[in-house]
This record gives sequence, C-alpha cells and structure tokens, in this order.
Amino acid sequence: MSVSRRQVLLVGGLGALGAIGAMSVPTRSLDAKSISRLPSSEMPRPFQTPLLLAPLLTPDSIGTDPADGAPVHYFTLTQMAASAAILPRLKTPILGYNGVFPGPTISLDQGTRAVLRVRNQLPPTHPSDGHPLTTSTHLHGSASLPQFDGYASDITSPGFRKDYHYPNFQPARTLWYHDHGVHFTAQNAYSGLAAQYHLHDPLERALLPQGRFDVALTISDAMFASNGALGYDDNTHSGLWGDVILVNGRPWPVMKVQKRIYRFRVLNCSISRSLRPTLSTGDPVVVVGTDGGLMPVTQTVANWRHAGAERYEILIDFRKYRTGQRIELRNLSNKNNVDYDFTNKIMAFDVTDEPVDQTDPTWNTIPVQLATDNPVMALDASAARKIRKFRVKRDDATNLWNISGVTWQDVIASGYRKVSADPELDAVEVWEIENSSGGWFHPVHIHLVDFKVLSRNGRTPFAYEKGPKDVVYVGEGETVRLLMKFGPHQGRYMMHCHNLPHEDHDMMVQFRVGLKEDDWDSNDPITAAPASWDG
Ligand code: C2O
Ligand code: CU
Ligand code: CU
Repeated sequence: MSVSRRQVLLVGGLGALGAIGAMSVPTRSLDAKSISRLPSSEMPRPFQTPLLLAPLLTPDSIGTDPADGAPVHYFTLTQMAASAAILPRLKTPILGYNGVFPGPTISLDQGTRAVLRVRNQLPPTHPSDGHPLTTSTHLHGSASLPQFDGYASDITSPGFRKDYHYPNFQPARTLWYHDHGVHFTAQNAYSGLAAQYHLHDPLERALLPQGRFDVALTISDAMFASNGALGYDDNTHSGLWGDVILVNGRPWPVMKVQKRIYRFRVLNCSISRSLRPTLSTGDPVVVVGTDGGLMPVTQTVANWRHAGAERYEILIDFRKYRTGQRIELRNLSNKNNVDYDFTNKIMAFDVTDEPVDQTDPTWNTIPVQLATDNPVMALDASAARKIRKFRVKRDDATNLWNISGVTWQDVIASGYRKVSADPELDAVEVWEIENSSGGWFHPVHIHLVDFKVLSRNGRTPFAYEKGPKDVVYVGEGETVRLLMKFGPHQGRYMMHCHNLPHEDHDMMVQFRVGLKEDDWDSNDPITAAPASWDG
C-alpha cells in the first residue's frame, strides 16, 4: 500500500500515544492495518451487534414563557464518568451526558422552547488525559444567544451547572449537542460528550418518515487500548483516526428493516475522520436534508463526502430488496484520512418480511419538492453587502492551525475582544474560505447562521450540499463561497474548524454581530449567564 503523508505523521506521533496511561507504545510498521492495542480476541468485528438507539430525553416539567406564553420544556442532563459496553467483553470508560454515549436524544417541535440544565458531575480531571474537566455545551445548529451557545471559554467546572436556553424557532432540522470546552473539545467529545437533538415542524412531519422510521445514526471512530479504554492519538494535533467505526456507540452494527422507505439522520461525530458513505448494492440514496434542515428539492446521489459535524438526512428505499438480504452502508473514504482494515464499512441493514403499515403514506413516497421557502436558500448573492475572505492553514513555526493568521489564543489574549469579522445585524454577506494546502481538509463551522454554499472552486456545489448548511467541507486545494444573513441575535460567536484537534490548537476565531467594538454587550458570552454552584 502507498504510504500517505498522514501515515508518516501517525508513526511520528507515537509519543503522544504513549502519554495516555493505559496505552503502551508498540513498534509498528507503516502499513499497520489497525491501531487499537486490543488482542485480536477482544477486537470487535463488523456486523456482530444490533444497532441501538440513544434514549429519548423526557422533560422534567413543561411550562410557559411568561414573556409571551410560548411553551417551554425543562430538561436536565448530567455529565458524568461512566462505563460503556462497546467491545465484545471489555468495558470502556467514557464521559457521557447521563452516562451514555451517544447522549440522550432531545426531540421538540418548532415553537417549543427548551431550557436545558447541564450539571457537570465529571471528575475534576480527565481520567486518562489529566486535563481539567471544565465544559461548555454547544447546541450545534441552533441560533442561540451568545451566552447559551457553548462559547469555548464560557466554562462550567465540575460541581457547577448551567441552564441553557434554546429558542427552537428555526425550520425543522437535525442538531446535535456536544462539549465545546476551550482547548479540550476533542478529548471531551471523543470521550463521549455528544448527542443528537431533533427539531420538528409541520412541513417535515408531513413529508418524511416519523417515529421508528426516522432513525438517528451517530457515526464516530475510535481506537482502543489493551484494557478496553479509548486510546487517544491526535498525531501532533493533525487529527485522530481510529480503526473501529461506531454507530450509536456500537461497532459496525446491524439494523433490521422492513421493505419500506426509511429516513436516516446521519451525523458524523468523529473528531477528525471524514466519510464517504455508499450502499453495497450500488443503489443511490436520496438526500432530503442538510445541516439546517430540508433542502429545496431532493437530490439522488451514489455517495457523499461527509465531514465531522455535518448532518445529512437521507432516505433509503428498501422496498425492492428480498427478505434476508443484507445491505451494507460502506465508506469509500476521502483524501487524507487514515484507513484501516474495516474502516471501509459503517453498518448493515438486514431486510425482514415484517408487515409494512401501508396507512403511513411515507412508506412508499419519495418527495421531490421539500422546503421551497427556506430563508437562507431564498437569499440571492446580489443581496450581499460585503465579501470577506478567510484562509485556513497551519503555521509551521508554531505548529498552530489558524484562520487568516488568527488563533483562539489571540482571542483570549485580547480579553475576548478580538474579532475576525463584524457584520451588522441582518446584514447579508458572502464569506469565502480558502484552503490552499494539498495535505489537509478542514470542515469549517460558523456559529449562529445557516448558510448557502454558492460555489466550490468557482463551480456549482455538490448536489447533496444544495441545502441550508452550517459546516462546509473545505477540501484540499478548495475555495468555497458561502452566503448568509447575520441575525437574529447580536453579539460574539465562534467560527472554527470542526476537525477538533485543529479547533483546540487553535483554529478558532470569533465574529461580532451588530455591536460596535466599545458597545455594552448585554449578551456577553462569558459573563451574561455564568454557571452556578450545584450544591
Ligand atoms: Cu459543533 Cu462550534 O461546534
Ligand atoms: Cu455550532
Ligand atoms: Cu482543520
């Protein structure tokens, strides 16, 4: 096999691997086909375990917002150390929301607000890595106020809690919540602090499968130490590529399906790995939703490039398959991932002859028109008042990733004042992001907004990304142009690479919406709603 630059780095990065207590440093050749240290008898293999679904979080109580009478659901989540059954026999210590990975799914209707109390009951320091377990919870995909947006430096220490207010006024979509603690987001999310959050609306309910036919798939990758603990090696902050693919926290699981159309909410919550999913039958999938919800029209694709943090909602039509047939969801991978023996597989579907409820019209309907009036997709580039340009790159002298030369360290050093852009409230702008390197891809995420991908290297974007987005895959040698409108909130929000080791070191900046530099910020992300002691 050919030796990629990343594999050379992988071997060069073994020092970092040795820093994790449970892992010993073996000698490995450049064509290593696995990276876990498990004896082969303990190594999981594809298609040996059923798909599990994350539990649904039920509200503690339901009330109304005194300001306007809108319904509010109150939830509590506790971040805690726990043990997970990922491997055939060995237990894996994790950090989880309510002790599970992925954390509980939250499901709400548009117009119902949420108050999420996040209790940090984690140990003071990470059990293997040793960093302090201060956390910040981000609801990725929500236009939340800055003080509830999981601003990296708005931290909640162990023993404290914070109430996050989520407006849920946006169109139906698949969101996810994950840790965003400054400098340790990668380890914390990798250790298990990640989960889905579903927002429904009447259009989406009418068009797409619901309930048990609306299936959340949270995909990640992991590597394991010989005792079953998670290994961590980010190759000197380049990225972590595990040899085990997890879906909803289980290795390469199998799901039984009826002969009908299913909807899957596919979230790649890998901290670095990107995917290119495809079906083993060669049949296409129908993409119906992107990060920001329903696309204007469905797109039929044979495979798609899917970076960390991106969400694609797809329909798979199992009607024509025969009982007992196994259909694999495979991974064709992309440039600059590190692949191992089984990273070309994700999960499998086994077709059953369970009777199909034909009174549910979504069983055999693939819609064509979806959200034809999504506000960001309706925007026209001619409405843009400004074009801003950003470059994502690595500074070889400091070994820090940066956005146009700026790092989160620079933001901290400025007392959180330094901004990389200052759009006015409700301004429409074009942001151009350039990745001139040939050796790295960067999934760039902009908080607060949904955006429309206008072009990639001057050409029309991929079919599957012709919907509202909040993360864009900026591949090797690519320049993307994005169109967005800044609102409805004022204040400071982050923009960063969602390869989380890049984000932590230190590819993250902020922008300020509406306010001038010296204006009083009533939504200061750190001071407006600080964490409180949890007793
Ligand atoms: Cu999913 Cu700022 O992150
Ligand atoms: Cu986000
Ligand atoms: Cu990056």
